[in-house]
Amino acid sequence: MMDNLLEIRNLTKSFGELKVLKGISLSVRRGEVISIIGSSGSGKSTLLRCINLLEEPDGGEILFAGQNLCDPGTDLRRLRERIGMVFQTFNLFHHRTVLENCMLPLTTVRRLTRQEAEQRAMEELEKVGMAEFRDADADNISGGQKQRVAIARALCMDPEVMLFDEPTSALDPEKVGEVLEVIRRLAESGMTMLIVTHEMQFASEVSDRVLFMDNGVILEEGMPDQIFRHPEKSRTAEFLSRFRK
Ligand SMILES: Nc1ncnc2c1ncn2[C@@H]1O[C@H](COP(=O)(O)OP(=O)(O)OP(=O)(O)O)[C@@H](O)[C@H]1O
Ligand SMILES: [Mg+2]
Repeated sequence: MMDNLLEIRNLTKSFGELKVLKGISLSVRRGEVISIIGSSGSGKSTLLRCINLLEEPDGGEILFAGQNLCDPGTDLRRLRERIGMVFQTFNLFHHRTVLENCMLPLTTVRRLTRQEAEQRAMEELEKVGMAEFRDADADNISGGQKQRVAIARALCMDPEVMLFDEPTSALDPEKVGEVLEVIRRLAESGMTMLIVTHEMQFASEVSDRVLFMDNGVILEEGMPDQIFRHPEKSRTAEFLSRFRK
């Protein structure tokens, strides 16, 4: 058995008549950082959502740590704890403090005591530089701060892989850097990550591998240098040219 944390084989997904994933195969090694790029509607979010079963795949297999996610016997809740996800729009709990946002999954899902949960939450809030905002209302902090809290909340559950779906797309430009910095440190710490992003410079710096998705397939993949500097497919080159101004 190779050291693949995630193994996706011929994954397909349609919404009605619309074929969104047309046979995706992908192996992710432990500790690998993969960026996923591609135009709007190419299926990037759907792929991530299938990986933690927010969407149910139509066909194919997803093996996570050797376990087939689509098996009827799979404990979805337990599995989702092992897969952290961060969304474009943060999805924090409203009318709750920063600290409560991080504690909630720990007390409800993990059944930690409040004291244990607070300790664990503060560790992760420290790492993303949000400890001093622990008592702030999560609705009243900046977008960059919200996203750092969302990342801390996911990390509290000790996930084995982190899925990021355009984590900086909803941010004011001046807030992008602080979030990318947190993700960069996470990459350096050895976390396995799949990152959907349009931040090409960032992707080229942190990724071990870059996937270009087009129209429901992985059209091209390779090392960042290869994809960003020497793409083989004209579709990839055309897509990337839109980001070079
Ligand atoms: N729940 C859904 N019901 C119906 N259609 C959907 C659903 N989710 C996604 N789609 C459609 O599937 C296609 C792929 O969507 P997806 O969100 O995966 O693309 P994407 O690559 O993430 O795009 P973007 O860059 O805009 O986020 C789109 O045409 C979208 O409208
Ligand atoms: Mg998307």
